[in-house]
Amino acid sequence: MPINVLGAVLLEGPQVIPGWELIKTYAPAVAVVGAIKYYFGGSSNIWERDMHGRVFMITGGTSGVGAQVAFQLASQGAQIVLLVRKVEDQWLIDYIEDMRERTNNFLIYAEECDLASLHSVRKFATKWLDNSPPRRLDGVVCCAAESIPPYKPRQVTTDGLERQMGVNYVSHFHLLTLLGPALRVQPPDRDVRVVLASCASQSLGELDLEDPLWQTRRYPTNKPLSVYGTSKLLLGLFAKEFQNQLDEYERKDKAPCNVRLVTANPGILRTPSTRRFLSLGSVWGLILYWILFPIWFIFLKSAYEGSQSIMYALSAKDLAKMQGAQHIQECRIVKSSRKELFDEELQKQYFQATEKKIEEVERQSAKQRAMNAPPKEKKDKKEKTGKEDVATNLSTSSIQEDVYTMPKTPEELEAKLNILRKDLASAATKKRKGKKA
Ligand SMILES: NC(=O)c1ccc[n+]([C@@H]2O[C@H](COP(=O)([O-])OP(=O)(O)OC[C@H]3O[C@@H](n4cnc5c(N)ncnc54)[C@H](OP(=O)(O)O)[C@@H]3O)[C@@H](O)[C@H]2O)c1
Repeated sequence: MPINVLGAVLLEGPQVIPGWELIKTYAPAVAVVGAIKYYFGGSSNIWERDMHGRVFMITGGTSGVGAQVAFQLASQGAQIVLLVRKVEDQWLIDYIEDMRERTNNFLIYAEECDLASLHSVRKFATKWLDNSPPRRLDGVVCCAAESIPPYKPRQVTTDGLERQMGVNYVSHFHLLTLLGPALRVQPPDRDVRVVLASCASQSLGELDLEDPLWQTRRYPTNKPLSVYGTSKLLLGLFAKEFQNQLDEYERKDKAPCNVRLVTANPGILRTPSTRRFLSLGSVWGLILYWILFPIWFIFLKSAYEGSQSIMYALSAKDLAKMQGAQHIQECRIVKSSRKELFDEELQKQYFQATEKKIEEVERQSAKQRAMNAPPKEKKDKKEKTGKEDVATNLSTSSIQEDVYTMPKTPEELEAKLNILRKDLASAATKKRKGKKA
């Protein structure tokens, strides 16, 4: 049949094609729309990297661009650790089951790390660091973010930080600095990547060293993008300074630093955060969003298209040889327009200011937790000596007593396993010493 039509077109002209008049009228418009859509779809990553056996942690891996990155890495055989707000969640269980089936990769897990709570971040990081021998880690992808729609009041995290600053910047800062030892300890031949999702709105960011986390400044409800942009700009400054610190660290084996920090701007996407933002977080806004969907479909990228720059940041070999933290946009290394990203002194100052704030906030939150703790927990805490075991929030003595009983939570299980591991190690040492004697 197509050959017949083709023959007829060649002999008699295109008018023999059924519906030719319609095609002639609308084809140019469809072609133009197609070309515009293709252009706004952005660039594709052409780098391929063998991901089998590699271990990646992903924040925001349950939605939008982060979910796409998690899916692609899992499809390529990587082990995925999704850092999520809550692990006891039926939706999450189904989500992981589904991803395991679709990627034919069963090494996909979730760990609790609620970025709206510094305590939760510390608990997760301590648990990870407590693993003996240290766990393999090939990369951390930081995609989680909160974006507050315009005309919504200021929102805060569990620690009382402005929500966008707390989730997008402070918690990722906290997570990565706590995981610093796990990143530095990776063997020298391992190409470790830390990718931070950035945003063009960082050009709207307003820095203030007196109030780096937007705690005392008036919250601009009519332009929340400036707060969101500030969180992304600070993430960029952090990447630069943290990379310098990792580069300066002298490894025991004297090998050069094998951890690369990269910020990647995925572009403007048709994801839940954009939908919430454009619809102003209202039902009417949502209806309007769906009515105007053809516009968003043409001009905004899909989550898959947005994930390309992040996949590039994780795969491009060139990046491993570059000095300093790089910024990626449209699968290319680009220079940012913000002068602060070239000011090392300022980057240091913001790093130190954030560290100080985190310390203050954590101390405050710990006091609050202690005050709100039920009486038994308070008693256990008093009995505790030495440093606080923030990873488990359970006193060591209480775990030691019932180490063989069924643990009720993953944290309790990990704590009990750690005690058993320590006991086994000390028994083995004693035995060795006994033999030598
Ligand atoms: N969308 C855009 O147009 C755009 C443009 C430029 C840059 N970006 C950046 O790209 C990244 C991904 O954006 P997206 O639009 O794909 O995001 P999204 O679909 O809105 O997903 C946000 C993710 O962050 C997680 N998250 C939020 N708060 C959290 C918390 N307290 N603890 C742990 N996880 C939390 C969410 O988990 P839940 O599933 O539990 O909610 C979700 O997985 C972000 O960093 C964003 O800034 C986006």
